[in-house]
Amino acid sequence: MSALTALNEEIARCQLCEIARTRTNAVPGEGAEDADILFIGEGPGWHEDQQGRPFVGPAGKYLDELLAYINLDRTQVFIANVIKCRPPGNRDPLPTEINNCSRWLDRQIEIISPKIIVTLGRYSMAKFFPGKTISKIHGTAQKWNDTICFAMYHPAAALHQQSLRHAIEEDMKKIPSLLSKAAEMPEAKPQPKQLGMFEV
Ligand code: URA
Repeated sequence: MSALTALNEEIARCQLCEIARTRTNAVPGEGAEDADILFIGEGPGWHEDQQGRPFVGPAGKYLDELLAYINLDRTQVFIANVIKCRPPGNRDPLPTEINNCSRWLDRQIEIISPKIIVTLGRYSMAKFFPGKTISKIHGTAQKWNDTICFAMYHPAAALHQQSLRHAIEEDMKKIPSLLSKAAEMPEAKPQPKQLGMFEV
């Protein structure tokens, strides 16, 4: 059994939050175990909860389109969320839920060891770019431990706000050059967190 499959089973048994009782399925995430790019959204919606798979509703269809802009599909990347259970009525995740679920996300990051983490929306951004504002930092990258983190708007926000569409599409197109930069970076050495932002 792969490390991620074993982790998914642990996630499926998790009962740390109240929302574990109302979920249909936990949604650990899916994609390539050795993916170079890890996309992290917010949390499962109705469709995701029904299927146990991330980003399978309208926002997911748009994410598939965005991936196609850079000649990728979801089997070549890994797609996860900050929280693995659907909050009832699609409310925002609570700080305790984010905190409880961070153990799973941290282990996913450790196993996948991506070259780039792409944050989708403000909840995912908050973990890697604390204190920052998405309208200011979308489309920019900074280092987090040994990984490059790149901030993007959430695809659902861009679906609902036409003005964000151009921004999210332009930001997505920056990922290939960021990936080549990441490939040139020296191998993992312990780094202080938050080395400051750099534009790409
Ligand atoms: N929105 C998210 O943040 N994650 C999903 O999996 C689906 C929609």
